[in-house]
Amino acid sequence: MADMYSTIVVKGPQTVSESTESVTITDNRTGQSVEVPIVDGGVDASAWRDLMPGLWFLDPGFGVTASASSAITELDGANGVLRYRGYPIEQLAEKSTFLEVAYLLLNGELPNQQELDTWTHDITYHTFIHENMRKRFYEGFHYDAHPMGMLVSAIAALSTFYPEAKEVNDPHLRYKQINRLISKVPTLAAMAYRASIGMPFVYPDNSMTYPANFLSMMFQVADPNFQADPVLAKAMDVLFIIHGDHEQNCSTTAMRVVGSSLADPYSAAAGATAALYGPRHGGANEAVIHMLEEIGSYDNIPAFIESVKAGDRKLMGFGHRVYKAYDPRARIVKNHADEVFKVTGKNPLIDIALKLEEIALEDEYFKSRNLYPNVDFYTGLIYQAMGFPLDMFTVLFAIGRMPGWLSHWQESLEQGSKISRPRQVYVGPAARDYVSMSER
Ligand code: SDX
Repeated sequence: MADMYSTIVVKGPQTVSESTESVTITDNRTGQSVEVPIVDGGVDASAWRDLMPGLWFLDPGFGVTASASSAITELDGANGVLRYRGYPIEQLAEKSTFLEVAYLLLNGELPNQQELDTWTHDITYHTFIHENMRKRFYEGFHYDAHPMGMLVSAIAALSTFYPEAKEVNDPHLRYKQINRLISKVPTLAAMAYRASIGMPFVYPDNSMTYPANFLSMMFQVADPNFQADPVLAKAMDVLFIIHGDHEQNCSTTAMRVVGSSLADPYSAAAGATAALYGPRHGGANEAVIHMLEEIGSYDNIPAFIESVKAGDRKLMGFGHRVYKAYDPRARIVKNHADEVFKVTGKNPLIDIALKLEEIALEDEYFKSRNLYPNVDFYTGLIYQAMGFPLDMFTVLFAIGRMPGWLSHWQESLEQGSKISRPRQVYVGPAARDYVSMSER
């Protein structure tokens, strides 16, 4: 990174150049200025560390701060563009598969046939879970434990089965853990669901594709010949693809931060999964269905919209820190809904969702704030129609996002990133002496 900014110039008052591809920071207390080149849309923050030691730029939600340089995913929020390693999400959703996209995210290039075959084999033959987890670990949860709480715990527990995972700087061992996490997370997810409904676990079937195997582990009941409907398996695969990665979102940032301490990838992925759980992030897909069920009919939409505009609640599935246009993933999901409903029957809530979107997109409150449907607005309608219970929706998001989290974890290690340790602006009390109890 320092090489990219080697032309940093610290100048005295009034001697700063007129370069347009740079910014100049001036400390008015000293008249000193620093001119920093703009490179790839960013400027190196360390430039003003030398100019103004001890002065921190406060940005609590990372609203205007880049925490990393990354080559994995590119978002153009103003135009609603999403590309994985340069490939548009629309093309990948239409032409690729989730395992091929996972390979692309991790390796930077689409695989040739031999690479894809090897990758698919490695994933397919690592879907099993140690029997100690299958038979004892899940039994420890309360009968109504939320599957996301079980998934966070199970992913962390995997670190105890693979102590070699601590060797995070060994590329060969890194590959093994990346492989294990991508192959085992559907098994852990399905086990969380089966445990929550008191059903026996279904072993992985290595003869099935990744999405079909997941649907089998989820929904197979006493039918060794169970085969997932190919339309639903395809829809599952597309849904995994569109959740694959999304640059420095909250859970990916958690993955990078935990990984920056050189913790093993299972512990980092557990942290990322925990971050995803929140309703502001991955938990929104579940919250959207609760919202649509609460609205219940067209007649209730105007009053609901008014309650949102009054600030009493959020229109879940709308708004995004980066997208100030329609989330391209929401459009892909919306277009896929009809295909799924032909098999499952139409989810009646989609009529309310479509009407809600139509009204919101015409309303000044939402337009003035650039609030559009995001990835979570329609996904839950498809999940629900496919038979997934609401508390499994964010678990599905986690399966799709696992390759993205691991790609960023790997990239951060390969970049030799330092431990994440932000500074703060202290606003607490000044130094003071201890007060004994008798004087309080
Ligand atoms: C995901 O980052 C990612 O990439 C995430 C994700 C991924 O793939 O990883 O895309 C997945 O998390 C999608 C987002 C899912 N969450 C939701 O749908 C929950 C509802 N959305 C909001 O909570 C909100 O939009 C956020 C959290 C998504 C974004 O919040 P920001 O960027 O901090 O924006 P903000 O809260 O500052 O909002 C700006 C204004 C505010 O109004 P004013 O104070 O200016 O009057 O817009 C309003 C907000 O009140 N606003 C909303 C709203 N979202 C923002 N008003 C009503 N309904 C909403 N959904």
